[in-house]
Amino acid sequence: MNEIILAVESSCDETAISIVEVYKDKLKSNFVRILAHEVESQHASHAPFGGVVPEIAARDHLAKIYDIASTALKKAGLKPEQLTKIAVTMGPGLIGALMVGVLFARGLATALNIPLVAVNHVDAHLAPALLLHDFSLKSDLSKSLHLRSPTFPAIALTVSGGHCHLSYLSDINTKKILGTTLDDACGEAFDKVAKLLGLEYPGGPEIEKLAFVAEQNGFQDKYQFPYKLSDKENIYQFSYSGIKTAVMEIIRKETGIKKGKITGKDLPLETKQQIAYSFQIAALKQLHDRVLNAVKNFPEIKSILIAGGVAQNKKFRELFMSFQQEVIFASPALCSDNATMIALQTIIETNLDGFNMQPFPKYIAK
Ligand code: KG4
Ligand code: ZN
Repeated sequence: MNEIILAVESSCDETAISIVEVYKDKLKSNFVRILAHEVESQHASHAPFGGVVPEIAARDHLAKIYDIASTALKKAGLKPEQLTKIAVTMGPGLIGALMVGVLFARGLATALNIPLVAVNHVDAHLAPALLLHDFSLKSDLSKSLHLRSPTFPAIALTVSGGHCHLSYLSDINTKKILGTTLDDACGEAFDKVAKLLGLEYPGGPEIEKLAFVAEQNGFQDKYQFPYKLSDKENIYQFSYSGIKTAVMEIIRKETGIKKGKITGKDLPLETKQQIAYSFQIAALKQLHDRVLNAVKNFPEIKSILIAGGVAQNKKFRELFMSFQQEVIFASPALCSDNATMIALQTIIETNLDGFNMQPFPKYIAK
C-alpha cells in the first residue's frame, strides 16, 4: 500500500492542507503525487492593518480548517480512512495559529489511529527544491512528480516574511546555520516598505510590480540604499533595519513631512516606482552578497538551494543566474506557505521504506 500523507500548515496567515501520495514500489521510489493542494490565504483579513494580526490569524484558521481539509479529501477522491499519516507544522510561527493546526492534526491522527509527524516550517520551505520540475497547480495535480537529490555540499537560503536563513548542507542529513537576520526578515522589510509607500499587503509582489515598471522605464538605482553590513565579521548575517530607515528618510525628504508619522501614499507614482526599484535591488543584492561570501569561503560548494516567499521574485532569480554552481529555486507555486512543503519534508524526514532518499538535515548548533 502506498503512503498517503495529509499535511497541515497554519503557522501564519495561510490555512493550508495538502495530500501527497508516495510510491512504495521500489521502481517508482523517487516519485510522489500531489493529490490535493489547498491554500486559503487570510490576506484580505490582515490587509487593513498592513501586517498579520495574530489573534485574527488564529480565529480565521479555526473557522476554516475543517472545511479546507474536507475539500482536500474530496478533491483527492479519498476517505479519511485511506490516509496513512498526518503531518503538521510545529513551528516556528504564531502560537495561536500553530495551535489550531497542531490540535486539528493531532485530533485527526488520533481518530484515525495513524502516526502524526511534526516538522519545522523553515526546514520545510526548502523541501520543494527537491522536485525535479516546477509544480503547476493547474496541470500537475495527481501526476507522478520526480524528486532529485542536489549535489552536495550545498548552500541553502530560505527567505520569507519571518525568516532569513543561510545554511551549509554537507549532505542532505547535515545542516549548519551560517547566518540569520539581526533584525527584520527580508520579506518583512518588503512588507514594511510597501506599507510606507501606501501599498497593499503583502508588500513583496506590490514592490516587485512597481520596480519592474521603473526598470522598463530605464530608471537607474537613484537612491542607492545600503546592502553590505559595515561589520565585517557578520559576513553571513542579514539586516534590513538600515535600509528601512533609509527608505523612511527618502520619503520624508520627498514628501516634506518633517515630523511625526510619515507616509509616501501621496507621492507621485514615478517616485514610488523609483523608491521600490532602489529598495528591491538593495534588499536582493544583500541576499546575493551573503551567498557570494559563502561560496567564496567554501569553494567546495556544488549547488545553491533557494526557497521561501521572497524566492518568487523574478529579479531575485535573475540575480542568481551569474553563479557557477547549480542554482535550484523552489518552484514558485510552492515558495509561499503551503502544506505540500510540509508533506515533502515529512517524506524526507521519515525516510519511508523503499523511498530512495536520506533523512533531511537536522540543525547543528553553531
Ligand atoms: O514564505 P512566506 O509565504 O511566509 C513566511 O513564512 O513568512 O513568505 C511571505 C513573504 C511576505 O513577506 C511577502 O511580501 C514576500 O514573502 N513575498 C515577496 C514576493 N512575493 C511574496 N517578496 C518579494 N517579491 C515577491 N514577489
Ligand atoms: Zn513560511
